[in-house]
Amino acid sequence: MKTKVLMVCLGNICRSPLAEGILKSKVDTTLIEVDSAGTAGYHTGNPPDPRSIAVARKYKIDISRQRCRRFVREDFDRFDHIFVMDQSNYQDIMEIAEDSGHREKVKLLLEEIDTGPSEVPDPYYGGDSGFEYVFELIDQACNALVLRLQQR
Ligand code: 4NP
Repeated sequence: MKTKVLMVCLGNICRSPLAEGILKSKVDTTLIEVDSAGTAGYHTGNPPDPRSIAVARKYKIDISRQRCRRFVREDFDRFDHIFVMDQSNYQDIMEIAEDSGHREKVKLLLEEIDTGPSEVPDPYYGGDSGFEYVFELIDQACNALVLRLQQR
């Protein structure tokens, strides 16, 4: 059976689309399903932020066909692992969780790595260098996550 991983941020246009694209680029997608969603619905149906598309393209990852969607309660049942980018996403998701089975699926993505910050900062209001930094953080976390998923 496929392992299903959901990446979550606030808008689903900057960080979690990158996380979806980066993780997909590292795994066999016939074995591991990867999706992303946002806790807010402001950008539903839109492609990722052009700055996220550009930094991903720089590393030969195409995220331009992704479309923004909002996190829904059913995602707790559909996915095995739900990775959030920051504490605010964590709290928003926990408010919708119905039981301990839901709650134990949710982790901060950067918990996958022992060093560095614990949150992927929101790059929306910053410059392009923020997107490069976010890419690097997510890339490192996904390297660790892939090793862990493959050990199962
Ligand atoms: P994301 O970034 O959560 O990484 O997708 C944001 C995108 C849009 C907004 C905030 C954060 N916004 O306020 O529209």
